[in-house]
Amino acid sequence: MKCKVGAKLLRIFFSTPAIMASNRGNSPSGSRRRKLNDTDFRDNGKPRGKIRVFCDTAGNAIASHYNQLPERGRVSRTQSKIYFMRNFNNWVKSVLLKTFQDRLRDEGQAQGVTALDLGCGKGGDLLKWKKGNVRKIVCTDIASKSIDQCKTRYNHNYKQAQGNIYKAEFLVADSTQQRLSELYRSDKQSFDLSSCQFVMHYSFESEARATMMVRNLCERLRKGGYFVGTTVNSDVLRQRLDQSETNTFGNDVYSVSFDSKDEFADYGHRYNFRLDGVVDCHEFVLQRKVLVELAKGFGMELVLWQTFSDFFAANSRSRENKDLMKTIKALEYYPSARPSSGKENDYCHADQVIADIKERKPGSEPKVGTLSQSEWDAASLYVVFAFKKVESEDEVFDVPASTSDDIPLLVISS
Ligand SMILES: C[S@@+](CC[C@H](N)C(=O)[O-])C[C@H]1O[C@@H](n2cnc3c(N)ncnc32)[C@H](O)[C@@H]1O
Repeated sequence: MKCKVGAKLLRIFFSTPAIMASNRGNSPSGSRRRKLNDTDFRDNGKPRGKIRVFCDTAGNAIASHYNQLPERGRVSRTQSKIYFMRNFNNWVKSVLLKTFQDRLRDEGQAQGVTALDLGCGKGGDLLKWKKGNVRKIVCTDIASKSIDQCKTRYNHNYKQAQGNIYKAEFLVADSTQQRLSELYRSDKQSFDLSSCQFVMHYSFESEARATMMVRNLCERLRKGGYFVGTTVNSDVLRQRLDQSETNTFGNDVYSVSFDSKDEFADYGHRYNFRLDGVVDCHEFVLQRKVLVELAKGFGMELVLWQTFSDFFAANSRSRENKDLMKTIKALEYYPSARPSSGKENDYCHADQVIADIKERKPGSEPKVGTLSQSEWDAASLYVVFAFKKVESEDEVFDVPASTSDDIPLLVISS
């Protein structure tokens, strides 16, 4: 089968040499290195503080699922069918967290941000926080093994930075059933920023659970603070379900199975989600309008709701974000001797751009950075969102609908 002409894609030109500088080991912006003293360490040389466990989740399917996921090594990760998609997701999260930390600084929070990472998993975002202006972070998850790994990672970062890193507190709790404000070490704990990355959709099992989740993310936010995250786009679920001849859709990278094509309910509308070697469990449909109404009850106004495609379009032009894209390999170089997808037609969108360039510049060997269609079909299930805790009831932000699903593509050399 030939590539269809006219495949949609988002083109951003990118012609400067790769900059591979790593941020690892840099001190957090604005802070000075200080010499450690004995009180910074316990006898085992680890940073102070321990994991506090507030729930027994042995019978919880989601906690069990995440607890039994093996920690994969770097080699195994690079061989995964979703290697670039995961890197791309990390780029999205990095840019989102940095954008709102910068915004808080510009809005007067110059002395540093206190953050909540709800559903932090194994701590994949710890280094992202390190790049910003964070003073303290509370990491919480329902899966105790994930929190163990998260704390181990934090300890490693702490040692590498010789203690010159934000403070952290670790809680194992079910945020759909427990009120976190009663569990923090300090009962005065408040936040400037709360982050919930790829987690919200688990809580929409019932109104009570979703409300507790949103309460946990918002009630300790100070006025002017932000709640940011990534979650599944129910509009895309609806569209793909309607297009499918069965109640299932997907490809060799991901699949989604519903019980029926019934209209989505506000809560408890369950489906099974499988993502190559990483996720295989049930989730619940989360609709923008329902989340917006829930969040309003906690003084929150929506300020951002974007498909990953629109988020890429809006953020891929700055030098900093482009450099990060290269550093973390958020896009796959194409053409390549070993493309990540072996499927015919998975790079039609890139072939078309390359052919256009060659026509304009005969003899050239253009290279682009992009994702395969298979990986993009999975990545484009998600949206980024942000809410602001407003000062007054009159603050209403205009957040347009975001529907683009163009495949990200950078022209690296032409
Ligand atoms: C897809 S992972 C995302 C992990 C991390 N936020 C990231 O972006 O890499 C979803 C996480 O949500 C956590 N989670 C699911 N339900 C939860 C709940 N009720 N309370 C707290 N964490 C929950 C899972 O244990 C898992 O670590």
